[in-house]
Amino acid sequence: MALVVWSDKLSVGIKSIDEQHSILFNSINELHAAMMKGQARTIIGGLLHTLLEYTHFHFAAEEAMMAKANYPQLPTHRIKHRELTKKVEDFVARFDRGDTTVSNQLLTFLSDWLANHIQGTDKEYGPLLNEQGVR
Ligand SMILES: [Fe+2]
Ligand SMILES: [Fe+2]
Repeated sequence: MALVVWSDKLSVGIKSIDEQHSILFNSINELHAAMMKGQARTIIGGLLHTLLEYTHFHFAAEEAMMAKANYPQLPTHRIKHRELTKKVEDFVARFDRGDTTVSNQLLTFLSDWLANHIQGTDKEYGPLLNEQGVR
């Protein structure tokens, strides 16, 4: 069973961003499934690094779009991204050092954070970006 499911109610009104959010959810679910199946540490580690890389990619893409639209809340939004990124990086570093309980905590934390962030913070830029034709 998937841990997190993307649905239309999470749409920010911009197709490319919705796609990235759904890829992030898939990445979390893939990691969750691998852990449930008791996959090897190297496989889980690989998936964790993929998730971290995609998180970097998504935040950078989102911030670039907000910058293009002169979105006034970009600085505070960026701080939220930085805080999350730092937490994920810390989790991954702990996993790499051998703390394998980490990824379970990470998944719960990350899926909650993402769903809240998308519904509360990401959705707010939708109207302006659409108005400016940024996609
Ligand atoms: Fe965001
Ligand atoms: Fe986002």
